[in-house]
Amino acid sequence: MNKIPAVLIEKDEKKIDLLLNFLDTFPEIGKTRYSNDIYDLEIVLAKKEPAVVLIGPTYSLTTIEDMLKHYADALNRIRVILLSSEISAKLLKHALKMNIHDVLEYPVQEKDFRESLKRTSYLFETKESILQSAAQECKKIMFFSTKGGSGNTFLSINFAIALKQKTKNEVSIYDLNYQFGDVALMLNIYPKNTIFDLISLNKYDDESLDVFLIRHNSGIRILPAPIDPSQGESIDADATSKILQAMGRINNYVVIDAPFSFSNLVISAIKKADHLFITATKDVPSVKNLKICLQLLDRLNYSRENISVILNRSDSKMEFEIDEIEKTIKRKIDFKIPSDRMVPISINKGIPAITGAPRSLVVKNIIKMLEILNTEEGNIKIR
Ligand SMILES: Nc1ncnc2c1ncn2[C@@H]1O[C@H](COP(=O)(O)OP(=O)(O)OP(=O)(O)O)[C@@H](O)[C@H]1O
Ligand SMILES: [Mg+2]
Repeated sequence: MNKIPAVLIEKDEKKIDLLLNFLDTFPEIGKTRYSNDIYDLEIVLAKKEPAVVLIGPTYSLTTIEDMLKHYADALNRIRVILLSSEISAKLLKHALKMNIHDVLEYPVQEKDFRESLKRTSYLFETKESILQSAAQECKKIMFFSTKGGSGNTFLSINFAIALKQKTKNEVSIYDLNYQFGDVALMLNIYPKNTIFDLISLNKYDDESLDVFLIRHNSGIRILPAPIDPSQGESIDADATSKILQAMGRINNYVVIDAPFSFSNLVISAIKKADHLFITATKDVPSVKNLKICLQLLDRLNYSRENISVILNRSDSKMEFEIDEIEKTIKRKIDFKIPSDRMVPISINKGIPAITGAPRSLVVKNIIKMLEILNTEEGNIKIR
């Protein structure tokens, strides 16, 4: 049997230590992650990676009820075991309703925990490779702007290269701007074939994709948008979804450069994105659209934790100050990118800023955006 990954969430540090030592005595338990913040449970549930999650006695079932309801579909892969100093029939009934795997009395008896583990072990008996591939699923990171000309394409390209440099993994850019996509142009690439030809071929196996994905000298690959805007009109959400799925098989990260619009195409891509960067600027139309956009994402139930707001040209003198924008949108701006003359120069030359001007403040701030890779783990530490 494969080792069972465990997560422990408990507020009291002493109890964490005791429970970690307790878990150490079970050879079937593998990597154990722990946190003293109950909201990290949300991160674990959102990731849906198979694990046994122990909720320590300081937290009650009512504290986690909303999270369990919200991520109900995660509970067929994640087994939650609630530890409680007092077990009543009412608590057991409530736990059953919430799909909790087990409620065990704290301090936990070895035989109770072993029995509980036994009932879930089948979940972890799948081949190592299947579990690994689930864990290594390709992450789709989407850039979306609140107004045309916000710097969305510039930022997606440079972020993708920064991601490649940092992770050394396979990173591709998907140009979702089927009418006026300019990712290839900004990288000095003049493609013979584009996504339109791939769709005409209607073959999405790894080999076909390899032919259509163009390698840039930074190491990232690009699936270019059609050259003729009229070709773009015929590409729908279904074809987009097929290609994105196929690209997921051969990439660790796919960065999607989306056009400014709330079309069905963009919304369906948003739903598939693991993280969303929203690029805004300091002018009134952009801030108004940013507010509307965040409200729409709420309505789509897109997790707020997976959204980062970028303020591009953040030092420019415009109608809004940063704190006014934050008050208006009722959340923090996550990343600020200053204005720099180097940006239009780098775009015109087709040399990405990340390689052409690595010491610039713009690039330093783009590199900061890689933080999203860590924050997904929240406060969780690994033992
Ligand atoms: N931080 C910056 N400093 C100076 N100029 C910038 C900055 N960011 C973007 N620009 C300029 O803004 C213009 C638009 O950038 P870009 O094409 O990346 O935006 P976009 O949001 O993708 O636009 P579109 O709506 O056309 O897709 C570019 O000409 C670029 O030079
Ligand atoms: Mg663009």
